[in-house]
Amino acid sequence: MSLVAEDVVVTYGRRLGSGILSRRRTPAAPALDGVGLTLGKGSIVALVGESGSGKSTLARCLVRMQEPGAGRVSVDGTDLTALRGRRLKDFRRRVQMIYQDPYESLIPRQQVRDIVAEGLAIHGVPRAERDERVREALTAVGLTPVESFLDRRPFELSGGQRQRVAIAGSLVLEPAYLIADEPVSMLDVSVRAGVLSLFGELRRTRELGILLITHDLATAVHVADRIVVMHRGRIVEEGPARQVTAEPAHDYTRALLAATPDLGRT
Ligand SMILES: Nc1ncnc2c1ncn2[C@@H]1O[C@H](COP(=O)(O)OP(=O)(O)OP(=O)(O)O)[C@@H](O)[C@H]1O
Ligand SMILES: [Mg+2]
Repeated sequence: MSLVAEDVVVTYGRRLGSGILSRRRTPAAPALDGVGLTLGKGSIVALVGESGSGKSTLARCLVRMQEPGAGRVSVDGTDLTALRGRRLKDFRRRVQMIYQDPYESLIPRQQVRDIVAEGLAIHGVPRAERDERVREALTAVGLTPVESFLDRRPFELSGGQRQRVAIAGSLVLEPAYLIADEPVSMLDVSVRAGVLSLFGELRRTRELGILLITHDLATAVHVADRIVVMHRGRIVEEGPARQVTAEPAHDYTRALLAATPDLGRT
């Protein structure tokens, strides 16, 4: 059971000329240049790399928001491009994306209960069951007592609480994989650890496979089983988290490590 990218290439065209009518495009350097990645159930893979290295592009390919120019992405052996109808809908439920800014992904005027229940409605869960599932999900992300959160709107929550609501909205669908694109970078350090340990717990209790995109090696080594390092559209290093940080093989990984003083050398 895994979500797999093989030899994925993505090239964004670059517009020639600045006019909005300019349609001619010249190929830029690929944003992803033959990338492979396996995310198994019950594991956390941290994807690190400098800004522009292709992390979000890979995330979009994994959730089928973007189609690779070459290579393939598959879930449990099935090519994503082959998914249609009911199977595509099931994929949309099983693979959930968590974004950096929970404020952007939440509808401001909706109450927490409706935000979390939204996916359930889309996926046809009967109304009678929804309330119970919403309560379970809010409890799982630590928003308790649930009663005190159900009626609030996003602006009545802290940043960390908003991110937990967004995660609850995904969890309620009982996904198998979570693709989290810098889920804690906008949060205060005081609440980061809580959200990250929530990921660890979900991996253990629900066997979730989590891809955690981060700029921060200290975060990566703390929660992930494996670390994958990207640089300019390629994977330049990967391995067990402790090994990558203890014996970095690539110059770029060493530079990242040097910029992470609190990790030190172990
Ligand atoms: N929609 C787009 N159109 C054109 N180029 C894009 C588009 N999205 C990303 N790119 C380019 O592709 C490359 C990879 O971008 P991507 O967003 O995947 O990087 P990233 O690793 O997520 O960076 P960050 O850490 O800043 O979020 C960059 O050079 C970026 O400019
Ligand atoms: Mg990004």
